[in-house]
Amino acid sequence: MARETILLSRQEIGRQIDVVDTIDAIERAMGVYEKGEDYLPPKAIFEIPVGEPAMAACITGMTKAANLLSMKVGHERTNNPQRQLPTTNSWISCFDPLTGELLMICDGTLPTMYRTAAAAAVGARQLARPDSRTLAVIGAGQLGRECLRAVAAVRLFAKIYVHDRFENAARALAQELHGRVKAPIEVASAEAACRAADVIVTATNSREPIVMSDWIRPGTHLSCMGADLHEKIECEMKLLPRCRLFADKIEHALLRGEVSQAVQHGLLGKDCYAGSLGQVINGAPGRRAADEITMFDGVGIGIQDTTIVRTIYDQAVKKNLGQRMAFS
Ligand SMILES: NC(=O)c1ccc[n+]([C@@H]2O[C@H](COP(=O)([O-])OP(=O)(O)OC[C@H]3O[C@@H](n4cnc5c(N)ncnc54)[C@H](O)[C@@H]3O)[C@@H](O)[C@H]2O)c1
Repeated sequence: MARETILLSRQEIGRQIDVVDTIDAIERAMGVYEKGEDYLPPKAIFEIPVGEPAMAACITGMTKAANLLSMKVGHERTNNPQRQLPTTNSWISCFDPLTGELLMICDGTLPTMYRTAAAAAVGARQLARPDSRTLAVIGAGQLGRECLRAVAAVRLFAKIYVHDRFENAARALAQELHGRVKAPIEVASAEAACRAADVIVTATNSREPIVMSDWIRPGTHLSCMGADLHEKIECEMKLLPRCRLFADKIEHALLRGEVSQAVQHGLLGKDCYAGSLGQVINGAPGRRAADEITMFDGVGIGIQDTTIVRTIYDQAVKKNLGQRMAFS
C-alpha cells in the first residue's frame, strides 16, 4: 500500500532545523556530487506571461546518499513586495526514487534559503582567509538573513556589516539577529561595508552592480548568491577578472550566475572559472595566496535541495510532524 504523504509548512521546518546545522551536509553533498554519482537534470525556467516580470523554475535532484528525488517549483515575482508578499516562493515534492511514491510536499522557500546560505558559508569556509575578521552582507531579505547566520558560523568574525537599499530592512535584520551571532552587527553603506570586509556575501535581486571593484581589498572572499538569472548582477564587471572564480555548477553559472553578463560582453572567457567548489571540497586548490581575491558564484543546484529535504523528511517521520494525506 502506498505510503501517506506528509504535508509540512515553513513554520514547522523552521522549528526543527537551523540553517547553521545544514552547512556540513551541504558541503558533503557538493563534494559527492562532483564525483558524478548523483542525478541532476537541467533547471527548467519559464517566463509567465502576466504583463510584469514573473518567472517560475523547476529544479530536480536525486542523491545516492539521500535516496530521495526532490522536485522543486519556485516562483519569483519582482512586484510582490507591493502586495506584501515575498519576492520568491517555492514548494518541494519529495519522491521515493524507486517506487515514485510521493513522500512529502513541503514549503520550499525556507529550505532554499537554508541550502543557499549553507553553500555561501561553504564557499567562505573553503576560500576565505582563515584570519578573516569582518563580514559584509549585502541584501537584508530572506536570503540575506540566512546567509548572515550561516557565514558568521564559519569564521571568527569580530564585526558584521549589513547593507540593503532600504535602510529599515537592514536595521530590522540587525536587530533581529542581535545576540544570535557572536559578532556585533552594524548597518552600513555598501561602500563602507565592502571596504571593511574580509568576506562579502551578496544576496540581493539587483539588476545593477552594487559592489564596486575599487572597494575590494586584496585577500577578500566573495560568496555571490543573489544573481541566479542572466539579467541579475551584483558586482561591477571589472571586479571579476581580479578574482579567482569558482561556481557550484559551471555550465549553469556561465549562463545565469554573477559572471554571465561579463562572459556575454567578452570580458571573461568561458574558461573563467578555476573550478567548482565541489572540486575544492574534494582537495583541488582553492585560495593560493593571502592576497588573492576569491569568489564563489552560486546559482543553486537541485542536489542541495535533496540534501536539505532528506533531513526535513526524517525529522517529520521521527517526530510525527505535519499533516498526513492519502491521495488515493
Ligand atoms: N543562488 C541561489 O541558489 C539562490 C537561491 C535563492 C534565492 N536566490 C536569489 O537571491 C536573491 C534574493 O532573494 P530573496 O528571497 O532574499 O529576496 P528578497 O526580496 O527577500 O531580498 C532581496 C533584498 O535585496 C535588496 N536589494 C535589491 N536590490 C538592491 C540594491 N541594488 N542594493 C542593495 N540592496 C538591494 C532588497 O531591498 C531586498 O531587501 C534573488 O535574486 C533570488 O532569486 C538565489
